[in-house]
Amino acid sequence: MSDHWYKDAIFYEVYVRGFFDSNGDGRGDLPGLIAKLDYLVELGVDCIWLLPTYPSPRKDDGYDVSDFVGVHPEYGTLADFDRLIAEAHHRGLKVIGDLVLNHCSSEHPWFLSARSDPASPYRDYFVWSDDATQYKDARVIFSDTERSNWTYDAVSGRHYWHRFYAHQPDLNFDNPKVQDEMMGVADFWLRRGLDGFRCDAVPYLFEREGTSCESLPETHAFVKRLRAHIDANFTGRILIAEANQWPEDLVPYFDGEFQMAFHFPLMPRMFMALRQETKKPIVEILQRTPQIQDGCQWGLFLRNHDELTLEMVTDAERDYLYEEYAKDPQMRLNAGIRRRLSPLLGGSRRRVELLHGLLLSLPGSPFLYYGDELGMGDNVYLGDRDGVRTPMQWSSDVNAGFSRAEPAKLYSPVSMDAVYNYQSINVEVQNRSEASLLRWVRRMIRARKTTRAFGRGALAFVETENERVLAFVRTYEKEEVLVVANLSRFVQPASLAMGVHAGKRPREIVGEAVFPVLTERYFLSLGPHAFYWFRLETPT
Ligand code: NOJ
Ligand code: CA
Repeated sequence: MSDHWYKDAIFYEVYVRGFFDSNGDGRGDLPGLIAKLDYLVELGVDCIWLLPTYPSPRKDDGYDVSDFVGVHPEYGTLADFDRLIAEAHHRGLKVIGDLVLNHCSSEHPWFLSARSDPASPYRDYFVWSDDATQYKDARVIFSDTERSNWTYDAVSGRHYWHRFYAHQPDLNFDNPKVQDEMMGVADFWLRRGLDGFRCDAVPYLFEREGTSCESLPETHAFVKRLRAHIDANFTGRILIAEANQWPEDLVPYFDGEFQMAFHFPLMPRMFMALRQETKKPIVEILQRTPQIQDGCQWGLFLRNHDELTLEMVTDAERDYLYEEYAKDPQMRLNAGIRRRLSPLLGGSRRRVELLHGLLLSLPGSPFLYYGDELGMGDNVYLGDRDGVRTPMQWSSDVNAGFSRAEPAKLYSPVSMDAVYNYQSINVEVQNRSEASLLRWVRRMIRARKTTRAFGRGALAFVETENERVLAFVRTYEKEEVLVVANLSRFVQPASLAMGVHAGKRPREIVGEAVFPVLTERYFLSLGPHAFYWFRLETPT
């Protein structure tokens, strides 16, 4: 893989706690993940993203860090971490971690010291206020739980600033010591061999009066320093921004800062397009997406470990998506929907395939969320976002083959849902059946890898005379791929305006079937939710 390896890579998000339990204590761990690396290699994954594995009281599932340079004892040891990296690299897999820059746990020794002693060297590691009146224009993100970004601390008699849960005090990036401290954390993990980081909550590092306290110039300046430092000391490592912002607001983050950023606004629009059976939402957001620099790449995803966030849509669109995808209030959380992919799509295999067809072919690198390759379900009766973090379903054995612990000891119940239960939906069963979703996803990943146009190509929309049919050409060097997708549940005609491509011969990428040579107006009919990937060849 080249320096820009991430452009061709398939990413896979691993929730270590829910992946595989090696020692029978009911919780997934690093040795368990090592034992399952071959599964990921076989799936065709190139890079795994580990959700936080730091010591933590786990009130936000590890995003409340109490030691930035350690491993949670439930997960194993630093030696296990080193072994994971070695074993992954040995298989050609890269590993990125989660760098939680913005905040730490209120149980972190820095905060314990800061709150209890005004003279503490850590006092200025946090953002304090006597009257909690500052930064009123900053929105509250965890709006279902928190009323304010300030919380009164009885120990210090002052209020401290937090963009997330009250138990996650923000670090004060105005303090150069904090900046150095966090650069040191990055160094620590990169020296152990991590291939980069997904950087958590990037926009919120600094706060300034009279602003939204998001994506401030000071935040950009810090990230530039971090990137320059990493580039100077390591090779081939990447930084990925978790910045839930409009595409145009992400452009500065690509300027000497991150190699990648998640495309948050595209994600809900894929769900909208599918429901409204029109390509419009997808086309509009991609037209609004600026060109990004060479060496930069979008991260595409359908679902992740959080709620499906609806922050990057209008109020009317949010109402629509809630109504269509989360009728039951139990399914809603903050400004989002806490469900997994397959249940969101009513268990429809065709819809799941169509969205994967887009995920794997639109401009960017795809991120798969563990278990979605099986069509795992969720449990909306668990608290917070736990319902999309249930144990990985490996087999029909007790505890879904995830753990040998007594079932009552598991960190979370396994799915016993009538449709998504582990006896029917699991790796072992799907490995056996040629028609399974798992084997389909594996084939599509292989198919994607036959051309670099998907990861690197330019995008040009193709007019289809049918708003239900999305078509585009991806071009990279000599390679051209035509993608056609029917967003409707009914059969659809499409008349593709092939322009300069007329005269080329489409070869369907998965089955290799050769189609009639393209004409200026090329007619295709598409079955319900069908999508095709064609390689365009020049007839000899
Ligand atoms: C974003 C993470 O994805 C989420 O899980 C977490 O709760 C917040 N950042 C706070 O760290
Ligand atoms: Ca364990």
